[in-house]
Amino acid sequence: MTTPRTILGDGLDVSAIGFGAMAVSGVYGDADPEEALATLHHAVDAGVTFIDTADIYGDGDNERLVGRLLADRRDEVQLATKFGITGSIARKTMRARNDPAYVAQAIDASLARLQVDTIDLYYLHRRDVTVPIEDVVGAMADLVAAGKVRHLGLSEVTAAELDAAHAVHPIAAVQSEWSVWSRDVERQVAPMAAGLGVGFVPYSPLGRGFLTGTLSDPATFADDWRAGLTRFRGDAFDANQAVVRALRGIGAELGATPAQVALAWLRAQGTLLGLPVVPIPGTRKPSRVDENAASADLVLTDEQLRTLDALSGQVVGNRSDFDDPNWTSDTRERGLSAGS
Ligand SMILES: NC(=O)c1ccc[n+]([C@@H]2O[C@H](COP(=O)([O-])OP(=O)(O)OC[C@H]3O[C@@H](n4cnc5c(N)ncnc54)[C@H](OP(=O)(O)O)[C@@H]3O)[C@@H](O)[C@H]2O)c1
Repeated sequence: MTTPRTILGDGLDVSAIGFGAMAVSGVYGDADPEEALATLHHAVDAGVTFIDTADIYGDGDNERLVGRLLADRRDEVQLATKFGITGSIARKTMRARNDPAYVAQAIDASLARLQVDTIDLYYLHRRDVTVPIEDVVGAMADLVAAGKVRHLGLSEVTAAELDAAHAVHPIAAVQSEWSVWSRDVERQVAPMAAGLGVGFVPYSPLGRGFLTGTLSDPATFADDWRAGLTRFRGDAFDANQAVVRALRGIGAELGATPAQVALAWLRAQGTLLGLPVVPIPGTRKPSRVDENAASADLVLTDEQLRTLDALSGQVVGNRSDFDDPNWTSDTRERGLSAGS
């Protein structure tokens, strides 16, 4: 199997479907490191060579695991990692940190864990609004000049932040949540990216598993991160099944799975906006890597796109329930946070 390629901003050439490695360090249920490594190798074998990690995932273990993949396959992979969050995802103690001294410290720690000399795409993971975006991107540009990083990316930035950052150094990609049930980036950020020639990397493109239709019983995720999200609880969880039913119905028309329809929908949004869009679904299972990669060949009809458009406006619950109001671009964009 081969996976097609896409060129993001700043000439960064990646597989058209990437692999998000976060969940192979146990965010959505337990994960075995040896099985996770086998899944990563399988992804690269299948041409899914754009691998996404972050210093915060698994408290550093995720980068160490990806480092084991890279030990003999560095040249086959477009490696993306991120910095800018301190604390722990598992303990929900995350805080954003963007000061230039921290940037210099974070890159060296990531390079050491990954056991590489250069990172292909280095993202700012979260905005710390006490530091001007120009200052943090300036410090990131110094890493490009030093040869430690090839391209720069930004996660959860507003359109205005992206515009200001891109004036300091070309930005290859914005990574923010985007899927059939999380569409706020379409208001301003994605059009700004399209206008600037910046690519888009939707995270949680399968709605943290919800959009795959495999999560019918809340008991199966009662012990993981998703149990804390309103969209996954009670009446909201039940109401949001309407989106899954639509994905399943469209999948039946096309001979595809709900996950494949959800990923093809994202690519269709990219076509509509004139924006290179490369989703990074994550999975612990090799067979699902193949299933997700095969979505690159799937094309939805206008009527199918209209059906999903209508339903996505009816989603119940916010995409983020985190206690920091600056955590997502959505709240800053709408002026709902203290720092905006
Ligand atoms: N920048 C940020 O702030 C940010 C935030 C969140 C995520 N991310 C990145 O985005 C990546 C993807 O997001 P995500 O992991 O949150 O969510 P996701 O990719 O939307 O969903 C992952 C979940 O879907 C399941 N899954 C994957 N493919 C499937 C398929 N074909 N059929 C059925 N179930 C399937 C996986 O379970 P199994 O393992 O059981 O297959 C997993 O629980 C992360 O790994 C991370 O790299 C970035």
